[in-house]
Amino acid sequence: MRLDLFTLFPEAFEWFAAQRHVRNALAHGAELETINYRDTTPLGAGQVDDAPYGGGAGMVLRVDVVDAALRAAYPERRPDRIVLLTPGGEQFDESLATELAAEPHVALLCGRYEGFDERIRDHLATDAISIGRYVLAGGELAAMVVADAILRKLPGALGHADSALEESFSEALGGAPEYPHYTRPPDYLGWTVPDVLVSGDHERVREWRLEQSRRRGEGA
Ligand code: ADE
Repeated sequence: MRLDLFTLFPEAFEWFAAQRHVRNALAHGAELETINYRDTTPLGAGQVDDAPYGGGAGMVLRVDVVDAALRAAYPERRPDRIVLLTPGGEQFDESLATELAAEPHVALLCGRYEGFDERIRDHLATDAISIGRYVLAGGELAAMVVADAILRKLPGALGHADSALEESFSEALGGAPEYPHYTRPPDYLGWTVPDVLVSGDHERVREWRLEQSRRRGEGA
């Protein structure tokens, strides 16, 4: 799949793009691009924002600037999913990540300042996503959260082929959180590992894990 990140701060994604699972996904055919709205702004002096109509604090990202960036990036066909990152959007979750990971081409639009001109949401974006009910200074961290959750699902991203199958909120666990993990030492300061995990009985281990996952899902 191809993931395009529209932003005023492409350098913010350098650390993210260097992460092992992201590099793995890219090595297996995924593509990740950053596109700077400022590079194609139709306004002078690299202007991308403006004061809000009706007054109020802060600046708003302009619709003509975002449209120009999309036109330049997609002269022929736009991706089927153009996702605006905004605190008031649809709550991002694992099933939305799975849905987006199945798309061949997704664009994520990061805002800055006070936010976007609403016409971007109404006419240019197909989705508006929030990573939580709090306000970040910009959409870049939110885009990284969304991109991370998507890319780690792609072929080759995780070293172990099964790692993404039985993890939190997966179908294999009925949408519940993942069961607890333990590793050596078996006893640390009297904090011991559950006996079942060192029993060697794979069937009991499987049942115990499913039960733990189910309990966590109930908030137990
Ligand atoms: N931009 C600013 N805050 C955000 C949030 N909580 N989710 C998505 N995008 C955002």
